[in-house]
Amino acid sequence: MVVQKSTGMRKAGMSSAGFVLGMLLIVLEVCDGGITSSYVRNDDLSLDMPLDSDVFQVPPGYNVPQQVHITQGDHEGKGVIVSWVTPDEPGSSTVIYWAENNTSLKKSAQATVLTYKYFNYTSGYIHHCTIDNLEFDTKYYYEVGTGNTARRFWFVTPPRVGPDVAYTFGLIGDLGQTHDSNDTLTHYELNPAKGQTLLFVGDLSYADDYPFHDNNRWDTWGRFIERNVAYQPWIWTAGNHEIDFVPELGESKPFKPYTNRYFVPYEASGSTSPLWYSIKRASAYIIVLSSYSAYGKYTPQYKWLEKELPIVNRTETPWLIVLMHSPLYNSYVHHYMEGESFRVMYEEWFVEYEVDVVFAGHVHAYERSERISNVAYNISNGLCTPNSDRSAPVYITIGDGGNLEGLVTEMTEPQPSYSAFREASFGHGIFDIKNRTHAFFSWHRNQDGYAVEADSLWLKNRYWNSLEDSSSLAAF
Ligand SMILES: *[C@@H]1O[C@H](CO)[C@@H](O)[C@H](O)[C@H]1NC(C)=O
Ligand SMILES: *[C@@H]1O[C@H](CO)[C@@H](O)[C@H](O)[C@H]1NC(C)=O
Ligand SMILES: *[C@@H]1O[C@H](CO)[C@@H](O)[C@H](O)[C@H]1NC(C)=O
Ligand SMILES: *[C@@H]1O[C@H](CO)[C@@H](O)[C@H](O)[C@H]1NC(C)=O
Ligand SMILES: *[C@@H]1O[C@H](CO)[C@@H](O)[C@H](O)[C@H]1NC(C)=O
Ligand SMILES: *[C@@H]1O[C@H](CO)[C@@H](O)[C@H](O)[C@H]1NC(C)=O
Ligand SMILES: *[C@@H]1O[C@H](CO)[C@@H](O)[C@H](O)[C@H]1NC(C)=O
Ligand SMILES: [Fe+2]
Repeated sequence: MVVQKSTGMRKAGMSSAGFVLGMLLIVLEVCDGGITSSYVRNDDLSLDMPLDSDVFQVPPGYNVPQQVHITQGDHEGKGVIVSWVTPDEPGSSTVIYWAENNTSLKKSAQATVLTYKYFNYTSGYIHHCTIDNLEFDTKYYYEVGTGNTARRFWFVTPPRVGPDVAYTFGLIGDLGQTHDSNDTLTHYELNPAKGQTLLFVGDLSYADDYPFHDNNRWDTWGRFIERNVAYQPWIWTAGNHEIDFVPELGESKPFKPYTNRYFVPYEASGSTSPLWYSIKRASAYIIVLSSYSAYGKYTPQYKWLEKELPIVNRTETPWLIVLMHSPLYNSYVHHYMEGESFRVMYEEWFVEYEVDVVFAGHVHAYERSERISNVAYNISNGLCTPNSDRSAPVYITIGDGGNLEGLVTEMTEPQPSYSAFREASFGHGIFDIKNRTHAFFSWHRNQDGYAVEADSLWLKNRYWNSLEDSSSLAAF
């Protein structure tokens, strides 16, 4: 059986519902499936933080770099892409960097600079700089800007790729820029589990919810998240709020703001598009897919993934993680079955290649599946119910970052058997790899203390577990 622990829950009646902020009453109903947890909360939609909020402050001075963010810059973790925006003129494109213990050995790298227009918005000068050939497992300082307006940050490179390298990933999706978003980010930052790299499962700024997709809200978002993403890489996945396709406004090139602002190292994994790619990091192999790009047979994304999955070397990187925006298994009413055609295309491969876990967002809630698959179905045979499958991934929906669209609370009833745990609350996840066989996943709701695990699960590695133990279905 899945080793599962759900804390902080107790039986309580919905009738006692009071709208006392921060007061948690948990209802447990065990249905066909797993656990449906619900609790009493202030249901008001959270608004975006006002433009004059502290989190959106422009760093003082003329043309000072803002919206500083980093992501992995190569395939194995020795590279970093440093990006930032200067508002008034291009300014310096140089990044100066040095290892913490080698302050006298400063190196520099040059960024490319771009601007883009969106309807009547013109971006600032967006700089992207790839720093290569760093040492593994080393703290580096870096500086952008010049003179007395230079800004200094730091990051730590991951350990060399290897099978038993412990590493901790955070998970956030559908973040937006509301007060709830700020809570989610704060909880992630203060979680004692200390995520070292964040896996972001799509839907970043929600600027497209504004008239004319007001791209100033991409800038405020960049300033909001800087406090974290300037110091640890966020691994990007595109969601529907990144499409920004509005031909009526003359904006018919999908993903324009997103792809101009957030560079990813897609060429390093042989991809032809920044919307799908892979990286290795520590003991994990992470494959990012695009729910909103063509994925049918013969498409570029299909052909890339078809080549990609067989070359993952589980002796080198035991943990195979897939990120996408739209979940394949979702028992909420909202977005129900939107991932179905993607599932039909790729679930078979996820099972065949023993993907450990698939993280998605999109649904503004939390849900964790059993290890199940639905690959036997072929339209005529009637086998349309997912079954227990020890080679299948666990599917985790973590679209509960806290954007202005609010939570989705309506669930399909009874809880389907594939659904192990679901709750409509804002929060984040932690995927803590211990070694090649064990990883611990926990979900943290914003209303709890920083260390509280509202749901958690030990994951046994699919590849190493099946080598060790070929016994029964129960051996999850
Ligand atoms: C956002 O959270 C940070 C850290 O908790 C806090 O300092 C800041 O005041 C918050 N800002 C807003 C607008 O809530
Ligand atoms: C520090 O400098 C020494 C020699 O100058 C070099 O061998 C070493 O790799 C550097 N360390 C890092 C982490 O860059
Ligand atoms: C810096 O740290 C690296 C790795 O820990 C080590 O190999 C190197 O010798 C150190 N360099 C200095 C100058 O202390
Ligand atoms: C863009 O157009 C909208 C609608 O006409 C207007 O409200 C807004 O002020 C314009 N912004 C700029 C930067 O011109
Ligand atoms: C897989 O990785 C291991 C460990 O790095 C290496 O020894 C082995 O040769 C690799 N296998 C293939 C097929 O590349
Ligand atoms: C569909 O599945 C059934 C039973 O699993 C099998 O007998 C049949 O051959 C399949 N049909 C096709 C076209 O593959
Ligand atoms: C892997 O980590 C798990 C959980 O911490 C531990 O129980 C197990 O003994 C470890 N395996 C090895 C080979 O160290
Ligand atoms: Fe979405």
